[in-house]
Amino acid sequence: MAKKIVITIDGWSSCGKSTLAKQLAKELGYVYVDSGAMYRAITLFFLRTNVDLASKKEIKEALQNISLEFIFNSTSGNSEIYLNSENVEYLIRDMFIAEKVSDVAAIKEVREFAVAQQQKMGAKKGIVMDGRDIGTVVFPKAELKLFMTADSAIRVQRRFKELYEKNPNITIEEVKDNLELRDYIDSNREISPLRRAEDAIELDNTNLSESQQFLKAIDMAKEKIY
Ligand code: DC
Repeated sequence: MAKKIVITIDGWSSCGKSTLAKQLAKELGYVYVDSGAMYRAITLFFLRTNVDLASKKEIKEALQNISLEFIFNSTSGNSEIYLNSENVEYLIRDMFIAEKVSDVAAIKEVREFAVAQQQKMGAKKGIVMDGRDIGTVVFPKAELKLFMTADSAIRVQRRFKELYEKNPNITIEEVKDNLELRDYIDSNREISPLRRAEDAIELDNTNLSESQQFLKAIDMAKEKIY
């Protein structure tokens, strides 16, 4: 008999985590949660309200005024994030958020705020969540943990292509610098740094197509489910 499991996907920026997570969720009829979108939406709120990242008081007050929700958009077929009832799914993908999000995500209070909500979302299982600390901190007991990697040059190309479609003024150097900086901050921060959980399976997709990667992952998921 099929049972519901928790699937975690962690890894470096622009490794294709969300692409794979969405495919798995769709195939299995699971909920997909993009935890990075939560840190991005919090960053947007902090920027809009000029929160001083050095002030714990301002951070705590700001967090009390943030409500995050994922709502399924049947047209796009994706869950989209709402910040205080405003759909910010597209806005949070901009470079001005990417430049600040790793600093915001390194703050203890911000992580506690996001992790508590992520754990609630997964309480009933049947979920695929991607991020940096999902297999290590959010769901340490998840049945299937994947850790994705890819060559950094490939990752830069992928992110560049994505951002260029929205902003043709963007340069490949800007994208490369931002990716390297985020990877550095995300893996060197004190709280919940990006790490491969001991029981996570590494998936290097440098030379894998999206469908090859999906087939590998869905096999692993089905093995745990049935
Ligand atoms: O996956 P992404 O690029 O949208 O994530 C944006 C940032 O949020 C990333 O630089 C690190 C941070 N993040 C995190 O610290 N923990 C997570 N679980 C997800 C994202």
